[in-house]
Amino acid sequence: MKVIVGNAEKLSRLIADEFIKQIKAKPNSVLGLATGTSPLGIYANLVKANKEGVISFFNVKTFNLDEYVGLDGAHPQSYRYFMNANLFDHIDINKRNTNVLKGVGDYLAYARQYDDLIAKSGGIDIQLLGIGSDGHIAFNEPNTPFDSLTHIAELTKSTIIDNSRLFTSVSEVPTQAVTMGLKSIMNAKKIVLIATGANKAQAIKDLLEGPLTESVPCSILQKHPDCTIYVDKDAYSKIRK
Ligand code: F6R
Repeated sequence: MKVIVGNAEKLSRLIADEFIKQIKAKPNSVLGLATGTSPLGIYANLVKANKEGVISFFNVKTFNLDEYVGLDGAHPQSYRYFMNANLFDHIDINKRNTNVLKGVGDYLAYARQYDDLIAKSGGIDIQLLGIGSDGHIAFNEPNTPFDSLTHIAELTKSTIIDNSRLFTSVSEVPTQAVTMGLKSIMNAKKIVLIATGANKAQAIKDLLEGPLTESVPCSILQKHPDCTIYVDKDAYSKIRK
C-alpha cells in the first residue's frame, strides 16, 4: 500500500486529481463513492473541476457504499440526500447513473442485485473510502467476513456514537445499514482511502501495521494490488517512523 501524508486540504486535492485523471482517461468511468465528513473537500474540488469545464460527469456512473436502513432519500441524514446535496446536484451527471443503496421499500431486493449491477457496469474503476475509528470501511464492522458482498449490517455502539453528531440525538441514529461488503470493495480496480484526525490513528495503525484479521475490517486492504492511503499527521501519529 502507498501512503501519502498531508493536511486535509492537500489530501482532498490529490484525491480529486486521481478522480479527474480517471474520468479524463475514461469518460464513462464507474466511480465508487463514500459519504461522511472525510469526502467533503474531495467533492468540493470535483464540483469546481466540473464547473470550470475540466471534466464532465455526463457519461460517468456511480455506486455508493452504503445507506441507513429506515431512512428514505428525502431524509436529510440519508446518504442519498448527502450525495445529492454535496455532489450530484452541482455537476452535470445524469441522476439515473447514480446508484445509492436504498434504506426503505424494496431495499433488500435492491441490495441483492447491487454487486451484479456493479459487475454489469464493468466494475468500479476507482473506489473512495473513509474509515471508522473502529476500523470499519463502508458499514463493515469488526468481524464482518472478508468474503462478504452487499448485505445488511448491524451498527456497533461506537459507530452509532460517532455518527450521532449529525442527528439530534443518539437514539435517532439507525441501528442497521445496507452496505457493500468487503469483497465488493476489494473488487474495485483502484482504491483511495482518506483519514484525518487523531480518532482515526489506531485504525490507520491497524490498517498499515496490524495483522490481516476479520476483527479489523480495513486490514483486508493490505491485500489490494492498487490501494493508496491518504492521511493527515494526526491520523498517522501512531505509525513508527
Ligand atoms: C460512509 C462510510 C463510512 C465512513 C466512515 C468515516 O459512506 O462508508 O465507512 O467512511 O464512517 O466517516 P467520516 O468520514 O464521517 O469520519
